Amino acid sequence: MTASRRTTRRSSPEGGRSRDLALVLAGRTWLEGKIRSIEIGIDEEGTIRAIGRSLQGAPRHDVGESLLLPSATDLHVHFRDPGRESEPEDFATGTLQAALGGVGLVADMPNTRPRVDTLDRLRAKEARVQGRALVDVLLYAAATPRAPIDLLARRAGAFKLYLSPTTDVDEVPTSADLDLLLKRVAATNLPLSVHAENPDRFDREIEPANPPDWNRVRPVDAERAAVDSLRRRPRSLRLHVAHVTDATIAGRLRKEGDSFEATPHHLLLSMRSGDGAKFKVNPPLRSERQRRALWEAFVRGAVPCLASDHAPHSPDEKQRPFPLAPSGMPNVETMLPLLLARVRAGDLPLPVLLAAACDRPARWIGQPRGRIAIGHRADLLVVDFRERRTIAARGLHAPCGWTAFEGWEGIFPREHYLRGRRIVEGGEFVGDPDGTIVRPEFAPDRSAPQPRSITE
Ligand code: NCD
Ligand code: ZN
Repeated sequence: MTASRRTTRRSSPEGGRSRDLALVLAGRTWLEGKIRSIEIGIDEEGTIRAIGRSLQGAPRHDVGESLLLPSATDLHVHFRDPGRESEPEDFATGTLQAALGGVGLVADMPNTRPRVDTLDRLRAKEARVQGRALVDVLLYAAATPRAPIDLLARRAGAFKLYLSPTTDVDEVPTSADLDLLLKRVAATNLPLSVHAENPDRFDREIEPANPPDWNRVRPVDAERAAVDSLRRRPRSLRLHVAHVTDATIAGRLRKEGDSFEATPHHLLLSMRSGDGAKFKVNPPLRSERQRRALWEAFVRGAVPCLASDHAPHSPDEKQRPFPLAPSGMPNVETMLPLLLARVRAGDLPLPVLLAAACDRPARWIGQPRGRIAIGHRADLLVVDFRERRTIAARGLHAPCGWTAFEGWEGIFPREHYLRGRRIVEGGEFVGDPDGTIVRPEFAPDRSAPQPRSITE
């Protein structure tokens, strides 16, 4: 279908403008409070130009009873590229998992080897994306006291600040450095994601042997203290707090109007969900009571963003004694399927998921995508809620070869369109490595274009 694209002039009853369409996708979607039939007209550049009940002329693909949904934007992945020889991931393998899991844009963290804290290293990472990425990529640069923030801001898509040690991060800014750093990042107008744990609150007396111990070593109190230390930031800073695990912290950030994310593992797993280092992650998995409170906040729409914190480690690394094993788990391929299965089960409203997985993450990084709306990118999924699958590591594409969600139910997209081109068909990748590097195109909720939206 994509090969035989013709361009047809069509008027759009709801878009109100006549445009050249290269493809019409027909199906059903979430529209003004219910599931309705819809046709989406896409132009040659891969932008949505018309939305209507019946658009004719252009090559047409009817997905029948299946849903047409926007693809997700994942603000938090670690694709380990460049990394060690033994590293079980790179941009090719990471973006394949993203494509198959319905994620059309990933934001890659800077704690690679080497760390992305100079312009040369940023350029070197860009070169590794080009010609290899299967979906779009935004690159974070590391916000450290010694990094050339202004120079990095010319090419990076966003900054990442680590307030505590974690994988490949040993040094964190002092309290005095922090204020200046926040000012310097605010002046660039780029978004800043913060790993908010305060290591002064870690309990170094405990020798951790399992996930509940890890929760005592790095308690919620450490997250609260780190979030407090961000209060002195300039108001203009586009702040986003990564992997929030606690509903009271979520409530506080929301009141202050800050962006933040929750991960599928903090929403669905507790510290008792599994033993061993595969369940070791930063921040730690919390108690079942805390997990449930976070999940309830998410279901109410009180958590702005969903992000995977996809952080694979090889089985050998994870088999080391618990205190020495690295933290992190793979998640980019399973994030949306796990949550779509919760929608099917009736536990989560579809519009809440679409806002958290698609719309708000894209807004935070100033990208016109994440909604089925005129002027938005035609980054779309075809989802059939009848196609349930039991998640098993052998059916996934993570080179690390394991998942903490073994045996869970997932609903994987049947098709995935990137810029109007089909990259996944029948659950298989059928596209080309033409993912592009993206940067913010507008400030969220300030100069953002206001395309007509039908997903909220
Ligand atoms: C991440 C990793 O391995 O890169 N690990 C993790 O436990 N989440 C780093 C991080 O996000 O802290
Ligand atoms: Zn992370």
